[in-house]
Amino acid sequence: MPKVTTIAELRLFQRQNRMHRSWGLIPTMGSLHEGHLRLIEQAVEENRVTFVTIFVNPTQFDNKEDLDNYPCSIDTDLQKIEAIDSNICVFVPSVETIYPDGAAVKKYALQGLDKPMEGRHRPGHFDGVATVVERLFTLIQPDVAYFGQKDFQQLQIVSLLAQSMGIRICSLPTVREQNGLAMSSRNRRLSTERREEAKLIFELLQWVKSNFSSHAIVDLKEMVVQKLSKTPAFELDYFEIAAEHNLRTANSKKEGVSYRAFIAVVVDGVRLIDNMSLN
Ligand code: PAJ
Repeated sequence: MPKVTTIAELRLFQRQNRMHRSWGLIPTMGSLHEGHLRLIEQAVEENRVTFVTIFVNPTQFDNKEDLDNYPCSIDTDLQKIEAIDSNICVFVPSVETIYPDGAAVKKYALQGLDKPMEGRHRPGHFDGVATVVERLFTLIQPDVAYFGQKDFQQLQIVSLLAQSMGIRICSLPTVREQNGLAMSSRNRRLSTERREEAKLIFELLQWVKSNFSSHAIVDLKEMVVQKLSKTPAFELDYFEIAAEHNLRTANSKKEGVSYRAFIAVVVDGVRLIDNMSLN
């Protein structure tokens, strides 16, 4: 399987494959699980050439400890990718390759998509994400890039960026563990017990979904806060209901708008996020 680490190697691979359009890209930070693998499988199905990037992007971490603790399992990752298709090109760049002038972050005008929820709780996070995704789009030049709905706010932001670069975005639903917990590279930092208890996050979202038509948004929000306060190990960072198209948080419903619930919870120092469409 082609594994490239430098831009020169990447360019050589691209020159050899320039006749074979279209090109699909799945950007990841590694520690691959079923959620990532679904995106890769979809790309392989739909494209002549598939690129997977593995790069733990330092500029999107607002917390150094989170960056230091981010899991890394490159050998297993490569095996998992190879098991899908041995022609996939895996780009594993160094920090210097992505940021030749030092890890500088651009400031983006993101139509307010970056302001609520993750943006409010992780200052600078989405500028870091947009900076690395723009760099990867520029280096790889994909026709289509694949992103998961697990990170719905990120999906909306990269969709805006991709539009300006003529790249199509394909999004896939959240892949969950058997108990409903959204798969995440961070889950492996949880004890078996906590991982089981963390199904509560999914159950809460499902509860909100089934009560969405009959309850006011403000009441639902209050009830979620109350329900979570009964499990002190789960510290609520935020729970919001927002319009899907512009991510503006809502306190009341409007006719014809699609809403989504968003939640971030910290369990034993591990930050978990999830979301669910409501109507
Ligand atoms: P990472 O967390 O590795 O996720 C890579 C891609 O996999 C993202 O599009 C994410 O939404 C998707 N994904 C993660 N868990 C998923 C799940 N349970 N179900 C479906 N899709 C899932 O997101 C990032 O990396 C980074 O921010 C990145 C975009 C690579 C920029 O650094």
